[in-house]
Amino acid sequence: MSRVLVGAPLVGDALERVRAVAELVTTDDPIGWSRAELLARVVDVDALIAMPSQRVDAELLDRAPGLRVVANHAVGVDNVDLQACAARSVVVTNTPGVLTEATADLAFGLLLDACRRISEGDRVVRAGGWRGWGPTVFLGARVTGATLGIIGFGRIGRAVARRARGFEMRVIYASPRPPTPSAPDDAEGAERVTLDELLARADVVSVHAPLRPETRGLLSRERIAAMRRGAVLVNTARGALVDEDALAEALVDGRLAAAGLDVYLDEPRVSPALLAAPNLVLAPHLGSADAPTRAAMASLACGAVVAVLGGGQPPNRVV
Ligand code: GLV
Repeated sequence: MSRVLVGAPLVGDALERVRAVAELVTTDDPIGWSRAELLARVVDVDALIAMPSQRVDAELLDRAPGLRVVANHAVGVDNVDLQACAARSVVVTNTPGVLTEATADLAFGLLLDACRRISEGDRVVRAGGWRGWGPTVFLGARVTGATLGIIGFGRIGRAVARRARGFEMRVIYASPRPPTPSAPDDAEGAERVTLDELLARADVVSVHAPLRPETRGLLSRERIAAMRRGAVLVNTARGALVDEDALAEALVDGRLAAAGLDVYLDEPRVSPALLAAPNLVLAPHLGSADAPTRAAMASLACGAVVAVLGGGQPPNRVV
């Protein structure tokens, strides 16, 4: 019987479909197997359901000669060495589409929180530091009617643009992909601009690009410096897209009014510079964390494992 290593406990009952055709190696730890545990347990498995926090690289693959499929429980596949998988004929799948709305919801939540200082206010109230209402107290950035700049205009970026319409925001976006009939230049009523123009015009910048070698450090020190004074940055994509030190400095200097992050360079470690920065909302990588979304992600990952073990083609194949 095939053996399937399940990176972490999944939401819903999708795993039962896998259990019907394979023996499962599971953990009760909600954050899943550690690196050392993964390396030890992957040796004799046919399939791995990997979490975005689990690196699937040549070292791991070399320990798993029987591995046929890595079903990544995420849409981003930056944790997987795709070339190393392809070289070993290991199929890689992801979970596109099903987490679009949840991630866009969270991006908008961070946008509202960062602009209107909700978490900061919550901390003050809990600490007993709220002295009362005053016209100058807790002034934030205006959301309604502001210009939102979306970097990366795929499924999630466009879902954020749809939410922005409800707040009468002007939406501009930058994307390296050429427009297509299904994603025209003016999709979702948004205006395509260059990245430089976006940074110069946006009151709020929200990042929705995949992490690839060419996008690492996309929001560099220079680009953060090119944002409007008083602008707000939101990142729900991947931490390595943003220069965290430069962001922290811009918040301390007051050049940026606020930021909201769900993702970090070295999760779950958050840099001391970010922890010390003012007006920064820090979420613990929970973009896709609503129950129906996580159940749908589990279903896609489990479906891919069942398909490959049965000799079929998973629809959400990356490699
Ligand atoms: C989560 O971060 C994902 O890529 O799905």
